[in-house]
Amino acid sequence: MGDVGANGGITDIFNRPLRDLRISVTDRCNFRCVYCMPKEAFGRDYQFLERRQLLTFEEIERIARIFVPLGVSKIRITGGEPLVRKNIETLIAKLAAIQGLDLALTTNGSMLPRKAQALKDAGLTRVSVSLDSLDDDVFKLMNDVDFPVSGVLDGIEAAAAAGLTPIKINMVVRRGFNEGSVVDMARHFKGTGHIVRFIEYMDVGETNGWRMDDVVPASEIVTMIGAEMPLEPAEPNYRGEVADRYRYLDGSGEIGVIASVTRSFCGDCTRARISAEGSLYTCLFASKGYDLRQLLRSDADDATLAEAITKVWRGRDDRYSDLRSEAAIGPPRVEMSYIGG
Ligand code: GTP
Ligand code: 5AD
Ligand code: SF4
Ligand code: SF4
Repeated sequence: MGDVGANGGITDIFNRPLRDLRISVTDRCNFRCVYCMPKEAFGRDYQFLERRQLLTFEEIERIARIFVPLGVSKIRITGGEPLVRKNIETLIAKLAAIQGLDLALTTNGSMLPRKAQALKDAGLTRVSVSLDSLDDDVFKLMNDVDFPVSGVLDGIEAAAAAGLTPIKINMVVRRGFNEGSVVDMARHFKGTGHIVRFIEYMDVGETNGWRMDDVVPASEIVTMIGAEMPLEPAEPNYRGEVADRYRYLDGSGEIGVIASVTRSFCGDCTRARISAEGSLYTCLFASKGYDLRQLLRSDADDATLAEAITKVWRGRDDRYSDLRSEAAIGPPRVEMSYIGG
């Protein structure tokens, strides 16, 4: 049974501490990536959450302050696309006031030219930017809203200029779509100080029609890049790091691969997620969350909330990626745009 972790925080059934809290601030996005929010499923009739269903910034701050003493040292803001949430920098400022947190945000980059400086000023530490190709035709095919690569590159530049570093660039690799862009992407960012991370396409949610054949294994990605720009494995930055790191032999930087399909990392998973409407999920592939919003909007005090969270985490036995083959026929899973990546 889970008990108290080394840092005084809580642990789950498999003795995994709670370290990393990912908070989704909206289920909306200005892109319609075919593997995440395909237009057929997220079209005009799709019911996005209404404003009153979303946690307010005050509620998010309160929840964050309750999570920190339970062991959380990193908070990542996600979506949907978090920068479409109005005045997001106000939330960042509230969270940045909590001492000792690594405060990061995952974005598609499209709004960074407008927002990067305000986010930095509010106290954001760093950003991860999703970019699936440097080829406009391929990228537009993937984002499905005709958004050009240059718009995201401008966003990355704005983030770098504002000092939201180190910048990580996340590329989801899908067989037959963008595997041809892998080496280009590595080459383009080599020597810039930005870290490209190649992500194996995962079977999240129910709408993307995932098949094992769509996955380009991380080992293949490393081989492709290494053939042109020699690489060697590097040590993880911390226990439970999602990406495997590789550095260029010529000293010009590093890449990462996130092999959640071919080399699952549930054993060290310290991540909790909160959906935009305030449900707590203990796995990216969960089908059900624990409703914290209802508690937040009752007269429950902080100690009651902390107890509820502790109970959920202590009972946590998720390890979906480890069990993928057996679990493939489980109950419907929540969408990634709802729970955050
Ligand atoms: P750092 O704090 O920079 O180390 O970031 P991170 O490694 O937590 O990375 P990020 O949030 O950018 O995650 C990158 C991608 O990895 C996500 O978009 C997901 O596709 C995948 N990923 C992250 N966390 C998990 C997880 O808990 N399980 C699985 N299966 N995939 C994950
Ligand atoms: N598999 C892997 N990564 C995904 N993302 C979205 N859907 C998937 C999927 N099915 C990534 C996005 C972004 C992050 C939020 O999650 O591209 O980098
Ligand atoms: Fe939006 Fe990111 Fe999903 Fe693409 S992957 S639709 S940018 S939330
Ligand atoms: Fe963690 Fe679930 Fe991902 Fe495994 S599948 S690493 S338990 S979020």
